Amino acid sequence: MSLDGKIADAQRGAARFSAAADLAHLEEKVAAADGVLFGGGTLRAYGTTLSVRSPDLLAQRRQRRQRDQPVQIVWSPSGNLDPQLRYFQQPVPRGLVTTAAGAQRWAETDLFDTVWVVPEAQTQPWDWPWVLAQFKQGGIHHLALLGGGRLTAELLGCRCVHEIFMTVCPLILGGATAPSPVEGAGFLAAVAPRLQLLSHRVVADEVFLHYRVRPASPEVGGGS
Ligand SMILES: NC(=O)c1ccc[n+]([C@@H]2O[C@H](COP(=O)([O-])OP(=O)(O)OC[C@H]3O[C@@H](n4cnc5c(N)ncnc54)[C@H](OP(=O)(O)O)[C@@H]3O)[C@@H](O)[C@H]2O)c1
Repeated sequence: MSLDGKIADAQRGAARFSAAADLAHLEEKVAAADGVLFGGGTLRAYGTTLSVRSPDLLAQRRQRRQRDQPVQIVWSPSGNLDPQLRYFQQPVPRGLVTTAAGAQRWAETDLFDTVWVVPEAQTQPWDWPWVLAQFKQGGIHHLALLGGGRLTAELLGCRCVHEIFMTVCPLILGGATAPSPVEGAGFLAAVAPRLQLLSHRVVADEVFLHYRVRPASPEVGGGS
């Protein structure tokens, strides 16, 4: 994100402002995961997803007996995604989390290897613990969440995020409509997720932060 807390500019396009060290850091996190989850807004902005390319990281995956690429999963309730996006040509396993109506759009294609259809009753609000349990049944134990802000708000709201890696980049984007790391309705300060800083690192002008999300406190959060 930019120093002023934006993850893209006001045109909500792809964010390509971070340096090579940050991209390598991101690839490392993707390479550690069994699955990668991102929102439809993010896929529409980028058109592609980040696959593992580093020979070292690929070798480490093989050593851990993971398949070469994590499953690249998009969350799109409507399923309204352009099949011409480059993502659909990338040599990665693809997954879709959607509604019954969204799944219907893809029924005649084999562009997704796995489609998780979430029953309507579990989409108001979205029952992420249930979705994550389905992933687990499919062998996805370690999931990397790549944003955008709407999807991150969903998972944070369900207390489904355990660690956060944030890179602060040396630019200022501003703009009321530019997306931030967490959108949605927001959290009141009294019940906001609280974090513990695990590490920080500086590479050139970027700051790499690693936080643990503290378990919700029953007194203030009311969650588990
Ligand atoms: N800097 C970074 O590291 C980074 C990382 C990721 C993303 N980004 C940026 O974040 C932006 C995308 O984030 P985002 O929060 O817009 O999307 P998102 O979290 O990627 O996806 C949002 C999903 O929410 C659904 N949705 C539900 N209610 C919605 C509503 N009222 N309006 C729109 N969508 C709604 C949409 O479903 P449907 O598919 O059914 O429409 C969409 O797929 C892009 O600009 C991207 O570049 C930056």
